[in-house]
Amino acid sequence: MRRAKITVVGAGNVGATCAHWCAAAELGDIVLLDIPRTEDMPRGKALDLMQSSPIMGFDSNIVGTTSYDDTAESDVVVVTAGIPRKPGMSRDDLLSTNAKIVTSVAEQIKASSPNAVVIVVSNPLDAMVQQMWKVTGFDSAKVCGQAGVLDTARYRTFLSMELGVSVEDISALLMGGHGDTMVPLPSCTCVGGIPVTQLIEPARLEEIVDRTRKGGAEIVSLLKTGSAYYAPAAACAQMVEAVVRDKKRVIPVAALCQSEYGVGGYYVGVPAIMGAGGVEKIIELDLTENEQAAFKHSVDAVKQLVASMNELLSA
Ligand code: LAC
Repeated sequence: MRRAKITVVGAGNVGATCAHWCAAAELGDIVLLDIPRTEDMPRGKALDLMQSSPIMGFDSNIVGTTSYDDTAESDVVVVTAGIPRKPGMSRDDLLSTNAKIVTSVAEQIKASSPNAVVIVVSNPLDAMVQQMWKVTGFDSAKVCGQAGVLDTARYRTFLSMELGVSVEDISALLMGGHGDTMVPLPSCTCVGGIPVTQLIEPARLEEIVDRTRKGGAEIVSLLKTGSAYYAPAAACAQMVEAVVRDKKRVIPVAALCQSEYGVGGYYVGVPAIMGAGGVEKIIELDLTENEQAAFKHSVDAVKQLVASMNELLSA
């Protein structure tokens, strides 16, 4: 049986770490690509990672390149290309630079891997994934964004730290855009099946939710030279696994919502079933009145972001 071919565009911290998680889990053969200006760097990282395989015990062919020819006919493409945030910057400050980078990456993916499932992680995520879909013209099920898996993982981590319980026993859901307006849903958060609202007081839960919303900025302020990468990369790897192993995972994904939730043609974070076909189904659930209002606020922020991007790109 042919192994899955996974391309990771961008060999920086998120890209290289994503390649690492994917290889270690034997999800397939990996092509790690960066722009020609980086010369041999992707080849060096790929070779180094491949040389860890006899020690760690995984079989995965890992190739580093600056040419899209090597990525031809990939099954999955993870797009991490773009500049990361520095302290004091919001994800939206990256809009102009990263929109141009993602446009060019999308053109290359369209030409080299027309059947791939594309997972975008470049920021500002909600606008970048919208642009990827527009430029590739791929079926919307095949183009999605990683944000919710990461944001939910942060939320689950904070809850496990608060309660002193295993992260494995915390299941949670978070919707909306990947920004300060994201919407964690306490009504869909359980600890070993017990609703979290029975274990944590509302005021304390709100503090945890707030820390989750600012989770990316917290890491940026600690690292000072860039943004988070272990957890974002692990989140991408989980989505890659859902596709290459056709897992039918129920996870939050930035997916194109048309009539769903009344969004009307924008990418926002929603619960979805992810498998070999990409985003196979968006799950529509009943939100409380407060959750609905928070989701609408988040969607409005995404719409504004996309409008700013389109203005910048047409200027
Ligand atoms: C974060 C960036 C990667 O949330 O968006 O850390």
